[in-house]
This record gives sequence, structure tokens and C-alpha cells, in this order.
Amino acid sequence: MFELKYKTPFIWTEAVLADFDAFLQDHAAAEKKASGMAVTMLSHYPDRKSLVRAMADLAIEELIHLKQVLKIMQAKDIQLANDVKDQYIKEIRSVFRQGKEVFFLDRLLVAAVIEARGHERFALVGEALPAGKEKEFYEAIAKSEEKHKNLFVELSYEYFDKEEVDQRLEEILIAEAAICEKLPFRAALH
Ligand SMILES: [Fe+2]
Ligand SMILES: [Fe+2]
Repeated sequence: MFELKYKTPFIWTEAVLADFDAFLQDHAAAEKKASGMAVTMLSHYPDRKSLVRAMADLAIEELIHLKQVLKIMQAKDIQLANDVKDQYIKEIRSVFRQGKEVFFLDRLLVAAVIEARGHERFALVGEALPAGKEKEFYEAIAKSEEKHKNLFVELSYEYFDKEEVDQRLEEILIAEAAICEKLPFRAALH
């Protein structure tokens, strides 16, 4: 559907594998926030029928992901970590434009790009892990996040002209690539 403009290098995967416990904690936080984001979206746009339905489904799906990560964490006796600010999310939100309609489009497309980045990086983790339950989990998560990526683009096409969506998506992809390039690698999704 669309391609990210920054390809995550292997040193990111190495940072993740070097402290996988910390990565799991960050992953759990990301799923929790993703579910919360879906609920916020349906609260802000109660008049958008498809969006409300899709966000209700998404909130549940992301919470299921949280539950699955928690299962892996608890088996290893790892606790949820305190919430910390995600610099990537903070910076990508700076692309939001003011104005009811353009703000709505930007929220949808930023969400699509965040899901796409989740898809890319969870797939890298899935590839790198040795055969087993955790590898299978990350492979499944990557597929699920790819569906979410497509969902947000489909919703954008439903509410906006294709040309406007495609042009804005291109701009946001360029901005997201620049953010990824300058952020340090950690044992974290972003
Ligand atoms: Fe998720
Ligand atoms: Fe997702």
C-alpha cells in the first residue's frame, strides 16, 4: 500500500536483542498506548461511522496484543515498566496541522505510518529470534500491524480525496524518515 522511506538497520535489531527484557516492557507500553489511541479517536469523531467501528475493533486488538506481551513477560518474571515519553511519537505528532479536516487527515495518516513502522520492526524482531513461541508471536504481531497500517489508509480514502491523501502521506513519510534517522537506537520499538 505504501512504503516507509527509512529502512531500519540491523544495529536496531542488535540493540533490541541485547536487552530483550527492556524491549518487552517498551512493547507492552506501545500496545497499551495504541489501544488508548483507538479509543481517543472514536471519542473525537463520533459522527464517522466506519471510523468508530474500526477504532472499537482496533482498541480490542491492541489490548489483546498487550495481553499477549504480558503473558511472555510474566513467564520471565518481568514487570510492566513506568510510562515514559516516546520521543518518536512526540516528534511525529508535530506534523499535525491546525484545522478540523486537515487535523483529522493528519491523525489518520500519522497512525498509518506508526503502524507501518511497528510492522517493519516487529517483523525484524521475528526474523532475528530463534525458532520458538516468541518468534511466532512477533511474526504474528507484524502481520497484525500491517493490517492496521492498511486500515488507516483505507479510512483516509473514505473521508478524503485520494490525491489529497497520497500527497499528504508522502509528506508525512518524509518527515517520519527524518525523525527515525536522528533518534538513537534503544531496546525499544522507537
Ligand atoms: Fe499492536
Ligand atoms: Fe497496531
